Amino acid sequence: MTAVEQPTATWRPGPILGIETSCDETAASVLAEDGSVLSSIIASQHAVHRRFGGVVPELASRAHIESIEDVSSEALQQSGLSWTDLTGIAVTQGPGLAGALLVGVNYAKALAYVLNIPMVGVSHLDGHIASGWLQDPAFPLPCVVLIVSGGHTHLYYKEPSGHCRLLGATRDDAAGEAFDKGAQLLGLEYPGGPAIDRLARQGNPKAIVFPRSYLKNGCLDFSFSGLKTALLYKLQAIPEQSRAAQAADIAASYQEAIVDVLVHKSFAAIRVSGARALAVVGGVSANSRLRALLQQRAASEDLRLSLPPLAYCTDNAAMIAAAGRQALRAGLRASLDIDAHASMVSPFAQAI
Ligand code: KG4
Ligand code: ZN
Repeated sequence: MTAVEQPTATWRPGPILGIETSCDETAASVLAEDGSVLSSIIASQHAVHRRFGGVVPELASRAHIESIEDVSSEALQQSGLSWTDLTGIAVTQGPGLAGALLVGVNYAKALAYVLNIPMVGVSHLDGHIASGWLQDPAFPLPCVVLIVSGGHTHLYYKEPSGHCRLLGATRDDAAGEAFDKGAQLLGLEYPGGPAIDRLARQGNPKAIVFPRSYLKNGCLDFSFSGLKTALLYKLQAIPEQSRAAQAADIAASYQEAIVDVLVHKSFAAIRVSGARALAVVGGVSANSRLRALLQQRAASEDLRLSLPPLAYCTDNAAMIAAAGRQALRAGLRASLDIDAHASMVSPFAQAI
């Protein structure tokens, strides 16, 4: 876009609209001036991608184009506000699927231009981090943050300033990927995380011992690719006709191996950093076994724990609006020529 008139540079505090289209959820949300969530609408594309066993980027972009207008209008309608009440727009700029991101970014630009209000591009990861504070904006800092999603498994130390330092990350698969690939091997439907979570409730998590990759002593990185291979070999060793009878035990044991490592490393990060609070966010934080183990351990160590309500664990726009609100308050603005960035790093969360 060349020389166009830019929307007003100063942000007048008030309601803002968040837009999220980084992967397979088209989402819009309105936050009130005080940051409370007035509406959060999510149009999931799971039905579109299910028969392919994963997200098909071209189909995702098309589905976003079809839904973005309706989802945004519904978010506004449910908020009880009108377009002209909005004072800012936050949109996921990356990381994610380039074509999918572009739909949200271009829609946000058009709205910001027409409404003459400022816009900010938000990192999807900053959005997930912000979801840990949606329910309780006073949740304490400093804090360890574990982001566990389909694309990321990152441990951060969030300083009292709000700045995040990377403590560890996966060296291969993300935790959500381990769930999705494991579910595929087990013949479960996409997305695999919720499917394993459901099936595991009927199984024994101690039935099979899957490997836990703790890496070097004290290391806060993760590795899940060996676990997936162990599952493949385990399944190959079971005669096909016996697999269904053992599926729940296998799912529960496989889930336990992922969850054990996530809990272990989160609490190791707590020890190393000295923080007394832990926020666990991202799609995998919806996992019922992970939530239960984190709650038990936090209670026994007298530690503050933030787990987003289930609706804000997986991708949503309330978290994007919340991160955008922080950015607007910090004086950030995007110009109308911003682009989507498939591998965007967070402006707030930087590696050390
Ligand atoms: O945060 P998210 O919605 O999207 C990304 O940013 O990737 O996370 C999606 C991931 C998928 O891998 C999905 O299988 C996983 O979160 N997930 C779960 C559960 N619900 C979603 N994994 C385990 N248990 C769940 N209940
Ligand atoms: Zn996400």
